[in-house]
Amino acid sequence: MKILHLVFHPDLKASRVNRTWKEQLEQSGKIYTSRDMYSEYPDFQIDVEKEQKLLQEHDRIVLQFPMYWWSVTPLLKKWFDDVLQYQFAYGSKGDKLSGKDLQIICSVGGQAKNYNGFHMFASVPELMKPLQLTANLAKMNYAQPLYMFNADACADEEVKKFGEKWVELIDDSRRADGLKYTNEKIHEDLIDVYQQLGMD
Ligand SMILES: Cc1cc2nc3c(=O)[nH]c(=O)nc-3n(C[C@H](O)[C@H](O)[C@H](O)COP(=O)(O)O)c2cc1C
Repeated sequence: MKILHLVFHPDLKASRVNRTWKEQLEQSGKIYTSRDMYSEYPDFQIDVEKEQKLLQEHDRIVLQFPMYWWSVTPLLKKWFDDVLQYQFAYGSKGDKLSGKDLQIICSVGGQAKNYNGFHMFASVPELMKPLQLTANLAKMNYAQPLYMFNADACADEEVKKFGEKWVELIDDSRRADGLKYTNEKIHEDLIDVYQQLGMD
């Protein structure tokens, strides 16, 4: 599986979480191409042809970014606007991304209790719905998003632990089917609970 890893952090040198994860993923040897998109396009002038070519050359596209204002960072939004063109990503002949996987990795400054989905709160997967719908339109397989809360205040060790988990999951082919993968995980978790209860 050829993995394209695109990191959209406005200042990766000053970043703690996303820089650590980028390094961990690169060092894993599982990533075919990894890029710091803000250093690639400091003036926001995206080379559309180059981006489209790269997308076509890979099987799984990983978009990594910090959550900014309950959304993606601005260059990632512009990358969608510019690169996912009519008759490339959608339209009668727009099948260039069809069948590829889309994996989101997001660092979240806020705490889990503020993303519980109840009342005024929204969950991270809910906030990422536009990305899921984009994947649907392009006939891509949308993997369950990966995210970590408390990104500014948590210990370095925690950041690394999450990074290790991303490394483990990044080339898991089962993630291409998000719903099936979730169902399997729920099933495995329940078996753990029953075993802890001494039931079998
Ligand atoms: C402009 C800006 C907007 C942010 N908006 C949010 C937000 O909406 N929700 C949230 O939980 N954290 C928010 N944060 C916190 C970032 O998500 C957090 O600093 C980042 O994930 C840490 O990763 P890094 O160490 O790679 O920079 C924001 C930070 C900045 C600078």
